[in-house]
Amino acid sequence: MSLDGIKDEVERLSDVTEAVNEYFVGNPALVERLLAAVLARGHVLFEDYPGLGKTLLVKTLARTIDTGFRRVQFTPDVLPSDILGTRIWEPEKRAFTLEKGPIFTNILLADEINRAPPKTQSALLEAMEEKQTTLDGERFALPEPFFVLATQNPIEQEGTYPLPEAQMDRFLLRMRTGYPSTEDDEREILRRRIDWSQDDPTDDIKPVIGRDAFVRLQQAAENVFVHEELLGYMAKLVRALRDANEVEVGPSPRGALALLKTSRALALIRGRDFATPDDVKTIAVEALAHRTVLEVEDVLEGTQPAQIVQRVLDTTPAPTPRPRPTP
Ligand SMILES: Nc1ncnc2c1ncn2[C@@H]1O[C@H](COP(=O)(O)OP(=O)(O)O)[C@@H](O)[C@H]1O
Ligand SMILES: [Mg+2]
Repeated sequence: MSLDGIKDEVERLSDVTEAVNEYFVGNPALVERLLAAVLARGHVLFEDYPGLGKTLLVKTLARTIDTGFRRVQFTPDVLPSDILGTRIWEPEKRAFTLEKGPIFTNILLADEINRAPPKTQSALLEAMEEKQTTLDGERFALPEPFFVLATQNPIEQEGTYPLPEAQMDRFLLRMRTGYPSTEDDEREILRRRIDWSQDDPTDDIKPVIGRDAFVRLQQAAENVFVHEELLGYMAKLVRALRDANEVEVGPSPRGALALLKTSRALALIRGRDFATPDDVKTIAVEALAHRTVLEVEDVLEGTQPAQIVQRVLDTTPAPTPRPRPTP
């Protein structure tokens, strides 16, 4: 495969990033990684302090794709059935009918997932993993495409349940939106707000890519060429991370697969039909840090998994980029 058959769709991807950057100020690199994750059919967790644009970013991205979109605001009283659905007895019909929950959509925005009780979280995470769900013993496939964009606040308040480490693995990437990095960005956020008629401008956003084109791009991402040496590089990275002194539990092979999938999608966004070490480096922290648990002493000293992933990236020699061989 070269990109020949899919040039138009790839061009739509720059429309998506452009549209999102128009609303979400100051971090095009983050938008690129988010798009790579969803093209790789992954779920994304945004973890950061309130007011940093998490909801704005994920809503904007969802709006630019012409598919189903639902938002669930999690609170302590959201039950698994509020997400998955329930069977309802209809007395007139003397039968049960199925009321499908909000998970039966293409893009599910799971906002403030850490406010949901653990039972609800695990019901959601299970459906995310299996892309299907069981209601009353009957199995239902989730639509295609399907992905979850979740947000979580890192401050542990009373009545919140931060996702357990073991569940983090279900997310292809975990990212932070971060504070605006410059005064100019800070000012630009204010300037946009003057143009918006209300605090939530996302209702006005028009889709720039269709569902079918999006699905074709997801398929194309899986055909991006990856040289054997690049596979070796990914394997070395996860092994070096597992072996690092500070690491108690390192990423599983699923973590290595996250590198593979996301770097291929990123290559496609960047207009290539082959992945490079630079693609891997771009997404490595977001793909691996949340699958890495540090030793207690290091956590107490304030060391962050992301720092260890970065060190491994800095010290592991990368191979030279190799394009798809011409047949
Ligand atoms: N990077 C950003 N670009 C544009 N607006 C932003 C950005 N960060 C924050 N905002 C503004 O702050 C408001 C709150 O953001 P929101 O997405 O609700 O935060 P969070 O979900 O992280 O708590 C947004 O409506 C938007 O006006
Ligand atoms: Mg929010």
